[in-house]
Amino acid sequence: MRIIITDSIEEFNIKAADIVSQQISSNPRTVFGAPTGETPLGLYRELVDRCKAGAIDFSQATCFSLDEYIGISPDHSQSSHYYMHNNFLKHINISEENIFIPNGMTQDIFGECRSYDNMIDSYGGIDFLILGIGQNGHIGFNEPADTFPSSSHLVELKESTINANARFFENKLDVPRYAITVGVKTIMQAKKVLLMAHGNSKTAAMQKALEEDVTPQVPASILQYHHDVTIIADKAAASRLGKE
Ligand code: GLP
Repeated sequence: MRIIITDSIEEFNIKAADIVSQQISSNPRTVFGAPTGETPLGLYRELVDRCKAGAIDFSQATCFSLDEYIGISPDHSQSSHYYMHNNFLKHINISEENIFIPNGMTQDIFGECRSYDNMIDSYGGIDFLILGIGQNGHIGFNEPADTFPSSSHLVELKESTINANARFFENKLDVPRYAITVGVKTIMQAKKVLLMAHGNSKTAAMQKALEEDVTPQVPASILQYHHDVTIIADKAAASRLGKE
């Protein structure tokens, strides 16, 4: 694992954008996986600016979103659909047909999960996976569990995740309790992973994920077994790393 510790939010976003830019220029047909959440917002802004300036070209790239809430429509302001389009995808030159996001309104959740995995497989898997980390160590929406769920699946969100994400909703009761997420197999089969973590709320999760035992109770800990992970963290998120 390579770890880049940044001094400022600007540096955090620019370093992440440099890594993504390098990936897209070395393989314009990159299939990338992308998270929602607050952490990558600055990265997406930076990539939009670079794309508008002609410095990065997404025209041949493909994006798979990692997860979607169950029961909220694509035009709901907190859906992954809305988030990904409005914060990133509609501002870059990616083709609409190369954008994939699970359908959280499906009547057939099992079928939706299976076809999402089949679609990822038909593209040869993810080349470059961008990840955030939840305060409880979740990646995508793979929540702490007794086993690592391999395929895309329905997940019941943990209370801590609902609490953390309540800030995006008017009322905590509006936070969906279920989501579809890609599984750990998709994450582990990604050729490269960029894990981003920012702020004090991620310090404990980062330490557990990167320095303690690999356990499905801390889903991000599986990344210790991945062969190509780059971590970008600010000083707060990285503050317990390398210390007993
Ligand atoms: C969300 C998403 C994840 C994200 C994580 C952290 O709920 N499902 O993909 O990485 O939680 O979010 P944030 O960056 O807002 O802390």
